[in-house]
Amino acid sequence: MSTQFLAPALREEDEEVEQSLRPRRLDDFVGQVRVKEQLAIALDAAKARGEALDHVLLVGPPGLGKTSLAHIVREELGVGIRAVAGPALERKDVAAILTAIEPRDVVFVDEIHRMSRAAEEILYPALEDFRLDIVMGQGTAARTLTLDLPPFTLVGATTRTGLLTSPLRDRFGMTFRLDYYEPAELAAIVARSARILGVEIAADAADEIAGRARGTPRIANRILRRVRDVAEVRHEGAITTAIAREALDLLEVDEAGLERLDRELLRSIVEKYDGGPVGVGTLAASLGEEPDTIEYVYEPYLLQLGFIQRTPRGRTITKLGRAHLGAAPEPDASLF
Ligand SMILES: Nc1ncnc2c1ncn2[C@@H]1O[C@H](COP(=O)(O)OP(=O)(O)O)[C@@H](O)[C@H]1O
Ligand SMILES: [Mg+2]
Repeated sequence: MSTQFLAPALREEDEEVEQSLRPRRLDDFVGQVRVKEQLAIALDAAKARGEALDHVLLVGPPGLGKTSLAHIVREELGVGIRAVAGPALERKDVAAILTAIEPRDVVFVDEIHRMSRAAEEILYPALEDFRLDIVMGQGTAARTLTLDLPPFTLVGATTRTGLLTSPLRDRFGMTFRLDYYEPAELAAIVARSARILGVEIAADAADEIAGRARGTPRIANRILRRVRDVAEVRHEGAITTAIAREALDLLEVDEAGLERLDRELLRSIVEKYDGGPVGVGTLAASLGEEPDTIEYVYEPYLLQLGFIQRTPRGRTITKLGRAHLGAAPEPDASLF
């Protein structure tokens, strides 16, 4: 069962807690300094001119703060927001949303790369000219009704720019890529979340959690909650480094922040596929997971650590990856 893992995909149990931990203003948003700087300038300029902010595309792996930033944009602009999921969006939904917005409102489309073609096409003129073309009737009786829309800001979030069509990509005035966070930034996020959750945590315990959170705030917060459980159930409630380590051991999160499934993935490449290359579909099947989950939830951090490589023929494990597993290194071909 994959739900026991800490991996960064969004789960239902998260929604409520994430709401409460979500930074509200740009100043509360830890790290991503360049993104914040550029966004702050664009926000100030748009506000000073009384105009809608340019459309914004947020790109990055799950759990790095895309949804948080979309809501921050709304908060900083002092306008309304309509948040929708790309895959569920139909042509008529787009029309309904756009005809109901107020000037300068934010429309947030999560997983925008999974929007249908029909929904996307009705968006084009809306994004470019704030115009909605509605086709009434059919065949020779069909006519197009054009509605003027108030200027608005589309904020799109995606884990994969590659899947965005180029006409859609071209309509964003700004694209921000979120990177994995530094341990010090994650420690600051953990300390902030602990404060909000009302749990006492030692600074080095926050560092311990940060060091194993795979550069991802959502994971840092998830670990913090599990650690808090251990602190409350087995101890006095305050989180020390020893308690953090105890909880991380229970969760089977190792020093690199890898979980059981990450290690199974690495081991599977070594043991079943002789170090690779192995296609992602095959690998996913052998782990009982969806290829998408492997590719977009688990692999990015393994790639970032340099534990695996993506080659045209599939995934291979690296020396670093083998070393992490404690597996015997590959025989050095140059010796023969
Ligand atoms: N820069 C940040 N500062 C503080 N907390 C953050 C930051 N980025 C993300 N978080 C936390 O991580 C959680 C997941 O972030 P979210 O915006 O939902 O990520 P995404 O939409 O990219 O998957 C949020 O609820 C928030 O608590
Ligand atoms: Mg999100």
